[in-house]
Amino acid sequence: MRFSKARARMQSSLIRELLKLASCPGVLSLAGGIPAPELFPMEALQKATERALSRHGPAALQYSPTEGHPVLRRWVAERLGVGEEQVLITSGSQQVLDLVARVILDEGDPVVVESPTYMGGLLAMNPYGPVYRPVPADEAGLLPEALPEAAKLAYVLPNFQNPTAAVLSEERRKTVADWAREVGAVVLEDDPYGHIYFEAPPPPPVFRHAPERTVYAGTFSKLVAPGLRIGYAVASPELMEALVQAKQAVDLHTNILGQAILAELIEAGELEPQAEWVRAFYRRRRDRMVAALKAQMPEEVRFQVPSGGMFLWLRFPEGTDTRRLLELALEEGVAFVPGDPFFAGEAYPAARLTFASVPEDAIEEGVRRLARAYDRYLEHAVA
Ligand SMILES: Cc1ncc(COP(=O)(O)O)c(C=O)c1O
Repeated sequence: MRFSKARARMQSSLIRELLKLASCPGVLSLAGGIPAPELFPMEALQKATERALSRHGPAALQYSPTEGHPVLRRWVAERLGVGEEQVLITSGSQQVLDLVARVILDEGDPVVVESPTYMGGLLAMNPYGPVYRPVPADEAGLLPEALPEAAKLAYVLPNFQNPTAAVLSEERRKTVADWAREVGAVVLEDDPYGHIYFEAPPPPPVFRHAPERTVYAGTFSKLVAPGLRIGYAVASPELMEALVQAKQAVDLHTNILGQAILAELIEAGELEPQAEWVRAFYRRRRDRMVAALKAQMPEEVRFQVPSGGMFLWLRFPEGTDTRRLLELALEEGVAFVPGDPFFAGEAYPAARLTFASVPEDAIEEGVRRLARAYDRYLEHAVA
């Protein structure tokens, strides 16, 4: 078959492949990246669906404007302190990553990415043929002094990053904004986890510091349910026009029934209590996982306690083969995601664990199995 160059650059997500292994019977999966299904507000959604259908009738199933439902646009606009005309409702925030890549990237363009970064972001940008400029990060996010002198796009995840859970400090947010202005780069700010904070809310987005050149991507996936596939982009009028035109070519508009249902939840004031419930729920699971790791894992395996989000990032001593460790872990009945696919450049040995979708009383057992696998790994490595 004569496929396009873009097709040749597409890859299947390694996480998807791993999740197949993790779904074997008896395997406790700390590998997933999905929300806890217990958090989906089933009853409220059922009622909201009925209300949406009876209020709008067939219009809830008709073609609708590309920009999105006015209630959703207003809700987003209020949170970001912009006008509604700067908000585009999208098919998940994943679509924002694709739309931005479509309108900004040409083959060979330099793109700053955090090291490590969200694998799905790399998958979205890969078809457009960018050249990645990975920037190392510490516990306060990417290191601004390592930002390059030229870039067309910078893909950043300032809040409870996937996979590391790091939060970019306010100081560094300002520096990223100044740098972007200086080099003429667009910032793609991906923020699916900002509302899942366990202590204080994170600092204001990079968007606030460079609204003319930042596309802010948000989502209802982790707050309500990912199956609704509703996310959003917030951007300057110039960027907004480009994104709307790109979206028209891709899918005309976002699923309007889903948007109408969400609008009912918003108007009934159900999102804020839902957000509080999500935070409290994941905080408990985070606490269980942190306690289990402290009790069971040797100190040489390091981690930063996540202050929000859904993930915990384990760092292993230099030279650890995390693929081999995964094989042993699966034998012990636990799965995790090895760190290397999250890097666009050089990787260090790490693993991403989730505490979000693991039943609370299975977290200790999962960590116990992982600790046993690591013990066995060390025995083999020495032998
Ligand atoms: C960092 C990050 N960005 C974007 C997405 C896409 O989310 P959605 O398309 O459901 O909004 C995810 C999903 O896990 C994610 O972790």
